[in-house]
Amino acid sequence: MLKSEQVFKPGAFPDYTYVSREFDSPNISYELRLKQAMKISGCLTSLIGPSKMGKTILCEKVIGFDKIVEVSGADFTDDIDFWDVVAAKAGLPYDLEVTKSTTIKDSIEDENYKKTDKYRLVKDKVIEYYRANELVLVLDDFHYAIPEKREKIAQQLKDAIRREFKAIVVSLPHRSDDAIRQNSDLSGRLSLINIEPWCENELKQIAIKGFNELNISISDKIAHKIAVESLTSPQLMQYICLSICTLHGVDEKKVEKIDESKLEKAYRFTTMNFDYRDVVNILSKGPNTRGKKRNIYKTTDGQEVDIYGLIVESLAKNPPITELHFNDLKDRIDTLIVGEEKPNKKALRDSLKKLQELLNTKENIYKALEWKDDKVYIVDPLFLFYLRWGRN
Ligand SMILES: Nc1ncnc2c1ncn2[C@@H]1O[C@H](COP(=O)(O)OP(=O)(O)O)[C@@H](O)[C@H]1O
Ligand SMILES: [Mg+2]
Repeated sequence: MLKSEQVFKPGAFPDYTYVSREFDSPNISYELRLKQAMKISGCLTSLIGPSKMGKTILCEKVIGFDKIVEVSGADFTDDIDFWDVVAAKAGLPYDLEVTKSTTIKDSIEDENYKKTDKYRLVKDKVIEYYRANELVLVLDDFHYAIPEKREKIAQQLKDAIRREFKAIVVSLPHRSDDAIRQNSDLSGRLSLINIEPWCENELKQIAIKGFNELNISISDKIAHKIAVESLTSPQLMQYICLSICTLHGVDEKKVEKIDESKLEKAYRFTTMNFDYRDVVNILSKGPNTRGKKRNIYKTTDGQEVDIYGLIVESLAKNPPITELHFNDLKDRIDTLIVGEEKPNKKALRDSLKKLQELLNTKENIYKALEWKDDKVYIVDPLFLFYLRWGRN
């Protein structure tokens, strides 16, 4: 008998609930697309998509655990040599130092020469090792590498791929991938793959597959409901399904079917894994007013909040949407307020702008939300999920 945690795996490779997705047109799967990209020798594959959308899992699926070598952008601090890391992760001896360098005179002037010489030899060996063993380097979360390092890495990769070194660079959308995609040295040598957010039907498959494996029946309606709450994220889907299993006690007793009345509790239970309390606080407080008083509004939920509180509350409302146009936000806010007085459009736009400026000064976890092109984007689906279910 399978246990629920073997079936639903929010943090690891989901053997039993892996779902294959297709591009809209032409109708080919992501797996096939990635396979094809890797066949083109001399090209670097750039895989881009929002956080937690299955980029790493896709690489693992296509390449397989015996051939994949995963390194993270975070592994490259300033003083670490790219090829040393790439060698070490593949299990090559860390110090490939070659005897040749000892024949060089040990003077200060020779230091540099010695270094580059050693370096070139290490690089040659690593490339050869990868080729001989058909290994594929997945440079994951490239956005974590510091910008100067990204340029240097791109340079190294450019040279290596010509020699049939296979590599995939994985990164978030927006500028973090500029070193690769905007690099003129690499133009014509890139295979580009963009991972789209998951649609409801794709998310549903995870629940249907998993409960099927556990011999529990789940109605289409329930699978659909969970998919909507999962907000385009397969990871959230896996989390919620696992919570549902725990609440039903599926590993302790025979459970026939999923009980719809337990869903909301499962959502709340799931939020215990996420901590966005500080983020919510910062957002609903807004920027420092320097003593100026803000208008206070009464909401249909019986709260008294200012304009920043209204923004946060309205994002949490139904239906959950990760991309909200200004007019829709304004409508949501107006409906939320009890009474005639509503904030005007200008004030609302100003507040959104200030909120964005405030977030720009904060650490990454606070960048859950973005205001641009007259839209509010919720960049981090887990944050929206927390807003909806984590606060009471
Ligand atoms: N194809 C898939 N089928 C089912 N679940 C998936 C799939 N891809 C991702 N997931 C779920 O989402 C989680 C996060 O995926 P991951 O690849 O780590 O995201 P990313 O690398 O884009 O941040 C996985 O641990 C898994 O639970
Ligand atoms: Mg990843």
